[in-house]
Amino acid sequence: MTPPLVTPGFHHITMVASNASRTLAFYRGLLGVGLVKRTVNFDDPGAWHLYFSDATGAPGTILTFFEWPSLAPGHPGVGGVHHLALGVASAEGQLKWKRRLEDAGVPVAGPYNRGWFRSIYFKDPDGQILEIATRGPGYDVDEPADALGQRELPPPPDAELVGDRDEQEIDQRTWPEPVPVITGDMALEGIHHISAITTDLSRLDAFYGEALGLRLVKRSFNQDSPDIKHWFWASYDGSRIEPHSALTFFGWPPRGRPARAGLGQTHHIAFRARTSDDQLAFRDHLLGMGVAVSPVMDRSYFTSIYFRDPDGLLLEVATDGPGFAIDEPAGALGQALRVPAWLEGQRDAIAATLSPLGP
Ligand SMILES: [Fe+2]
Ligand SMILES: [Fe+2]
Repeated sequence: MTPPLVTPGFHHITMVASNASRTLAFYRGLLGVGLVKRTVNFDDPGAWHLYFSDATGAPGTILTFFEWPSLAPGHPGVGGVHHLALGVASAEGQLKWKRRLEDAGVPVAGPYNRGWFRSIYFKDPDGQILEIATRGPGYDVDEPADALGQRELPPPPDAELVGDRDEQEIDQRTWPEPVPVITGDMALEGIHHISAITTDLSRLDAFYGEALGLRLVKRSFNQDSPDIKHWFWASYDGSRIEPHSALTFFGWPPRGRPARAGLGQTHHIAFRARTSDDQLAFRDHLLGMGVAVSPVMDRSYFTSIYFRDPDGLLLEVATDGPGFAIDEPAGALGQALRVPAWLEGQRDAIAATLSPLGP
């Protein structure tokens, strides 16, 4: 038997924004995540497609946005993403984020003790729910690193649950000084986890295991709603979880409210294929599972295939290469509008329709 295909983790997440300039100010200006590509939606070239990531555009750190100003706001629900968590090294750095965000007028909830990490929550200007989660203490804090996800964990202690925890004390906890400059210990480390919603955790376990090689690593409960199960999957070799690979689902009751696509929501989640050959192998494998998969699409900086999970969540498998330095110098990413060769003839017309973005 050939070993199952395993994705190393997330490649990028794509969200929907109403105003590219405001999104740039929030993610680059406030959160300090660099803009590495200013291009257009290849399927809708009148719309901005902004790519943010670490300086190199490393998979797992990439956040992208389509600008669709006329779209209505969406909401989370079954078949959609609930929130995106970005990683930070320490609780100290996290507390600095709380102060910096609140000083900028962004309400922040937490920090909450989630057992495996600490979390603060806030929203981007369109309402996308964001979290900043600490790197530690890690998923092996309550079960052995070589046996993650094998048993259902007991519910968290009452003191950590909604209703019992000291919300006032949590609310007041913040960094004592203003944080006008992002310090080294605040550096955001890319996608820590992505949390979505389903009504059937077992069905998803079978799907993500078979389709992408993800393994169940936590069977727990939602601390903010303890009757709801919360399961985690990741790229896990039986001893170590790959960074940027944790996908979690809340298990809602049957007939839960479906997600509504729109502003402030996640459009799709992309997982990594290391090579084009791996991507083709994923594609053949998905077709063999009876999953409808798109042809391989050229996205300039990677190639992509698209499909849906059993709840309808749009997924992508994207190649690691060739990367963002293919059409501009690695030291000057994201500074000028880039369009693919097949749109180069329409560049001026496209540039004229795009909303002003600024430097
Ligand atoms: Fe989370
Ligand atoms: Fe994508």
